[in-house]
Amino acid sequence: MTQATSAKAPAAAQDFLPLDGIDHIEFYVGNALQAAQYYRHLFGFDIVARRGLETGDREKASYVLEQGKVRFVLTSALSPDHEVARFCNLHGDGVKAVAFRVKDVDKSIAETRKRGATVVQQPTTLKDERGEVRIASIRTYGEVIHRFVSREGYKGEFVPGFEPMSMKALKPTGLASVDHIVGNVELGAMNHWASYYANVLGFQQLLHFTDDDISTEYSALMSKVMQNGTGKIKFPLNEPAEGKKKSQIEEYLDFNYGPGVQHIAMTTGDICETVRTLRDRGVRFLRVPDTYYDALSERVGKIDEDMATIRELGILVDRDEDGYLLQIFTQPLEDRPTLFFEVIERHGSRGFGVGNFKALFVSIEEEQRRRGTL
Ligand code: FE2
Repeated sequence: MTQATSAKAPAAAQDFLPLDGIDHIEFYVGNALQAAQYYRHLFGFDIVARRGLETGDREKASYVLEQGKVRFVLTSALSPDHEVARFCNLHGDGVKAVAFRVKDVDKSIAETRKRGATVVQQPTTLKDERGEVRIASIRTYGEVIHRFVSREGYKGEFVPGFEPMSMKALKPTGLASVDHIVGNVELGAMNHWASYYANVLGFQQLLHFTDDDISTEYSALMSKVMQNGTGKIKFPLNEPAEGKKKSQIEEYLDFNYGPGVQHIAMTTGDICETVRTLRDRGVRFLRVPDTYYDALSERVGKIDEDMATIRELGILVDRDEDGYLLQIFTQPLEDRPTLFFEVIERHGSRGFGVGNFKALFVSIEEEQRRRGTL
């Protein structure tokens, strides 16, 4: 059953790891130049900075994309034996780093190391004529890392080593900020990683869904939602549960060759406009059965949006005691059924759309059937 646990923000003095938000998400991709244009054209990101051969990097190329408060970095290798190439060969394109903005990188490393974090990059200062950025990282599930970034006073676009690039989106799509980032981990590993976020990063458990909440005839998963002390950062963690056939989480783990980031949810202030624009650009979304909408008004009551538009665009609605939310999920962003995006608009609700899980799973199972993986 669903268990909401009280996740009151600890007093500032007790929060040993104050995080100011998500600084950026770095993807390792096969072809960063083309991926940058994919996210620019389909999702409305500006390309604001780059590095590569022309900036003196002989090993890799990266592009920095921004929209609202969302910042993506796309990185490709320039040779077959580079770490980025190895990652992409194994996992496909995917998320390598989720970076936190902090005031004190050294303290963030010291506090997390003391609590058991594996440090993968010691605190390092990057410098150019526009100032300094201090950076370090620790590992988390799969091959994903968390990076700590302190960029106070830095006047450049991203970090030293990048040069500005001004390639605006044709039209922004209204994506405003990162709402949550979901990790898929192996069967039996969810509690380990939930404890890791609690003990090493000082997160608290916000919600717990068991397979009773989230199951259909075939698919089942368990999920714990961890959030940081300020409540700004939310990381649900999923693991597969026993179903009659292969669950969507197992399918992800099989095609990703291990744990990794399953989806990134981004907020918008006008989901109808955002989804209409994304659809026009060619973004494909999961479609729930039309019968979902027949009982919707009864289930969620009155909402500000026009129900006919919600239905036409395939947007999902859920309500809890705090309010309601609107959400929709894209199809996977590449040929492997791995990473996808969620677009979410919150009207009070701090939940994750548990009331939509059943309808969604039926839809996902239909897609799995088409892929021959169910
Ligand atoms: Fe989500």
